[in-house]
Amino acid sequence: MQLEAHRSLADLTTFGLPSAAEHFVCCESVEVVKEALAWRRRSGCPLHVLGGGSNVLFTGDLPGLVLRLGIEGIEEVRRDAEAVYVRVGAGVAWHDFVQVSLDRGWNGLENLSLIPGSTGAGPMQNIGAYGVELEERFDLLEAIDIASGELHTFSHADCQFGYRESVFKRALKGQFVITHVTFRLPLVPDLRLEYGAIREELDCEGVDVPDARAVSEAVIRIRRSKLPDPAVIGNAGSFFKNPVLDDAAFGSLVKSHPDVPNYPAPSGVKVAAGWLIDRAGWKGHDRGTHGVHDRQALVLVHRGGAKGADLVKLAEDIQSDVFAKFGVALEREVNVLPKG
Ligand code: EPU
Repeated sequence: MQLEAHRSLADLTTFGLPSAAEHFVCCESVEVVKEALAWRRRSGCPLHVLGGGSNVLFTGDLPGLVLRLGIEGIEEVRRDAEAVYVRVGAGVAWHDFVQVSLDRGWNGLENLSLIPGSTGAGPMQNIGAYGVELEERFDLLEAIDIASGELHTFSHADCQFGYRESVFKRALKGQFVITHVTFRLPLVPDLRLEYGAIREELDCEGVDVPDARAVSEAVIRIRRSKLPDPAVIGNAGSFFKNPVLDDAAFGSLVKSHPDVPNYPAPSGVKVAAGWLIDRAGWKGHDRGTHGVHDRQALVLVHRGGAKGADLVKLAEDIQSDVFAKFGVALEREVNVLPKG
């Protein structure tokens, strides 16, 4: 295990904000993860686990140990009549895995193309896009208990998936390090074309009978047209979750704003946060070093030279303005660290 002291984290997150880890280790195997956790137990310092860095905002230096997952590998473990089971290292970049799955003729991940971040971070917040969530393709995951260093297997039910949610963000928050995820990918295409602009995009390209690759390419074009590329401009995708309102709250919102985009959700009605922020006048809002993306109001951007606290202040200003104008409380999707 190679420990580094005062390692800058700016290049390890998609926001690119200044921050450094007191101690840092990149773990390329389960054994090194175990070794790093044992070291941290002995030293008693705080621990932060970093995946692809695409859903975090650092407001300062991180005390203690930052453990980055660097476990690689994409391996077919078995197959049955309907599906192939593929075990993937937590450190594999999510989009690289999606591309490999398409190359090998595996289906089911095409709508999730170009989502930034690592495969191990995917189940944490049950990543989703264009009508598909990771949980639909999930078989099981392996994770190490931070307290004991023991390896555990989690089934789909164990993970308690929800909209951008799992048990790892709730009851088991901060207790496990995910090392491998096994997916169940259908051998026969199971295309989802109903959501958003996918069908429109395929029509535009003259694709009559799409396959998984064509859908992936359409999703990539749609995402590129709306979302900033983190390699060019710092961002963490959707900064806020789409709020889920109960019937009474939705009823009063839709009365004053009948055109608010909304979708049924298990516990109420989901409304588009991007629409609320846009209508409140924040789209393209510019504070020099940072601001709100001009094509998608749900995305905050770091143009260079900002501090994490500047982005947090902007987010708070948006939250209070949206609350004042619509009576809707927006919840952050991005994790802010260290906690103040
Ligand atoms: N809208 C506006 N103005 C905006 C942004 C959106 O009016 O500036 C409207 C759109 O016109 C549309 C509605 O709001 O009617 C919903 O917008 P969109 O289709 O762009 O999707 P979203 O709900 O904003 C969600 C996910 C994205 C995911 C897309 C596509 C969340 C918080 N975000 O965005 O996920 O890519 O759907 O499935 O659920 C991410 O999590 O980082 C992310 C990018």
